[in-house]
Amino acid sequence: MAGLVIAMDGPSGSGKSSASRGVARALGLRYLDTGAMYRAMTWWMLRQGVDLADSDAIVARAAEPEIVSGTDPGGPTIHVDGIDVAGPIRETEVTASVSVVAAVPEVRSRLVALQREIIGDGDIVVEGRDIGTVVAPDATLKIYLTASAEARARRRHAELAGTTVEAQQAAMARRDTIDSTRRADPLSMAAGAVELDTTALNLEEVIAEVLRLAEARRGSG
Ligand code: DC
Repeated sequence: MAGLVIAMDGPSGSGKSSASRGVARALGLRYLDTGAMYRAMTWWMLRQGVDLADSDAIVARAAEPEIVSGTDPGGPTIHVDGIDVAGPIRETEVTASVSVVAAVPEVRSRLVALQREIIGDGDIVVEGRDIGTVVAPDATLKIYLTASAEARARRRHAELAGTTVEAQQAAMARRDTIDSTRRADPLSMAAGAVELDTTALNLEEVIAEVLRLAEARRGSG
């Protein structure tokens, strides 16, 4: 029988990463951050000097970088052509460009194939934007995390130095618009997903609720 797959989708700042890692640790599952893979692709394109305004240029190079994700929830890793890029992929330049790269269908099809390979037989928590809709539509449990725009901006602001909450909210709104309106696999709630609004919840409460839902799903499956 295939193992457990928990799909965690939602916009940035909805609390996906911390909740997904916490759930994976609690259940002894692997963890995959698919956003890190789009960021790694973007980091590589920038480093190669690919003109990101030219989608044909992105398509022409999309098959080149070797992207390797480590799935230990205690210390997830990401390497591109053997280089540890866990730090650089969080930098402003990558964050500002990743939505554009992630909107290119050829980038998505390559990374989705890699993600499915990693998911394999399951026993994994996978976070992203299209996990329940595209990458793993047969996931055991699909969660769609939301939070108010202000709460999401405040959380991201707390993680980053040198910005204001307002600037953060505006930058996130720009990215959300690109992610939700792109033609290829836009961010949307999957059929059968459970929506979880995290605005008024702390991390422990979000993890507890996902664990409760996972337990109920396993009990009924
Ligand atoms: O979750 P994050 O902020 O690290 O995601 C980075 C970008 O990648 C974001 O603009 C959305 C995109 N992304 C995507 O299109 N599909 C995914 N499965 C994960 C992330």
